Amino acid sequence: MTTEIVNTLTSDLVPGDHPYLQGAWTPLLEEVNATELKVLEGSIPLDIDGVYLRNTENPVFQAKGKYHPFDGDGMLHMAAFKSGKVSYRNRFVQTKGLQAELEAGRALWAGLMEDPALSERAGWGAHGSLKDSSSTDVVVHAGRALTTFYQCGEGYRLDPLSLEHEGIPPWSPLDGISAHCKVDEHTGEMLFFNYSKHAPYMHYGVVDKHDKLVHYVPIPLPGPRLPHDMAFTENYAILNDFPLYWDPELLAQGKHVVRFYKDTPSRIAIIPRRGQTQDIRWFEAAPTFVLHWLNAYEEGDEIVLDGYFQDNPMPRNYEGAPAGYERMMSYLDQKKMGCHLHRWRFNLKTGQTTEKRLDDRILEFGMFNQRYATRPYRYAYSAVQVPGWFLFNGYVKHDLQTGQSWAIQLPEGQYASEAPFAPRTNAQDEDDGYLVSFITNENTQRSEIILIDSKKFEAGPVCRIELPHKLCSGTHACWASGADMQPGGLLSGQPA
Ligand SMILES: [Fe+2]
Repeated sequence: MTTEIVNTLTSDLVPGDHPYLQGAWTPLLEEVNATELKVLEGSIPLDIDGVYLRNTENPVFQAKGKYHPFDGDGMLHMAAFKSGKVSYRNRFVQTKGLQAELEAGRALWAGLMEDPALSERAGWGAHGSLKDSSSTDVVVHAGRALTTFYQCGEGYRLDPLSLEHEGIPPWSPLDGISAHCKVDEHTGEMLFFNYSKHAPYMHYGVVDKHDKLVHYVPIPLPGPRLPHDMAFTENYAILNDFPLYWDPELLAQGKHVVRFYKDTPSRIAIIPRRGQTQDIRWFEAAPTFVLHWLNAYEEGDEIVLDGYFQDNPMPRNYEGAPAGYERMMSYLDQKKMGCHLHRWRFNLKTGQTTEKRLDDRILEFGMFNQRYATRPYRYAYSAVQVPGWFLFNGYVKHDLQTGQSWAIQLPEGQYASEAPFAPRTNAQDEDDGYLVSFITNENTQRSEIILIDSKKFEAGPVCRIELPHKLCSGTHACWASGADMQPGGLLSGQPA
């Protein structure tokens, strides 16, 4: 392996007992370029061509008060596969917030769990006092990687291979963009939403494959809400109004306290992809909160939407957590929240909703072959959480047609990332390809890339590749194929 250390940031982090600042969540401060990575097991397949990108919440400075892992600074990790070779890079996302803190040499913003008055500077996005860390999600659109923040931010662009910074999108709206923008690989369009504490509380927009904002409309809500994800079919965008939101009375006093209104139905907005506010159709569904959706598609008069239903969106405090972190630990525990694979059907003719649980296991962070987005798809992949922790140690593959499923569990001490599906370059059908993930290995204090062959799912990784340093555990990831990023490709932003 050839490794060039490009930069190492100076940090004032003090070692402590915070559960999300140690072990697999130990922050990484160096930025590297690495080539000729060592293959630890198997061989790098010749039929995988593209880039795997993962965002990470990786704090540089000691928090002002309590730290929540969602406060961490964005760090983008990149693994590029071509012709049986792989290269790796990582870079902090150079947000305005991180740059200001690097200049000051310390944290300037208080995080999610602290009194907003502790922040020394104005914040960004829906919460209004947080640093826009751009640390939640990443997609590839119009030739660039775009990192985003779950409480909304400006969005930051980097070259998907070099990780050179390319600034903020010129079209980024006043209320910013939320995490979980959706790129339609059939059209090259990117669909996005934002949310805020002022009316109309939500917007929906479309940026075309040439990076032009072509649509932006209000999605009026009854008050401030906390949506996290959206979905889309060939003709519709799907947004939501779940009964989990900041207590309005406390919010009026400047306090951000989330409550679940268990007797209030969930509301799902279905709007034509280029539709106006008056075209929205609202559907009611059982009260819940959905952190992440899977795919959605149209079938006759119905829209089919898969995602993860939460039985208990406001769990009781976590017993045994360090003092002051009981609530944080609960909200990161999918078992406490009861996250289950679920299917909703919305009938456009009758206005009725039908719902069905698809699996009794605790599952979340779904992935599927993006070439089957908006299509009646067959295979879904879910991540398995380590009980009580925001760490993954396995995956489940579902055949949604037959109900069959396959599971893999990683060895003790190995923690995975979200693992998007990378189709083989000559893919013959939907599950012809690999799941790609980074692993942080607490036994060896190293990290690696793994490839899981979807056709031989339970056989475990077919290839393990050593990384030059130990990664901090992170959140969302994406895959962009090399062909789609070539000039003329739908993710290239360039003509043929
Ligand atoms: Fe997310």
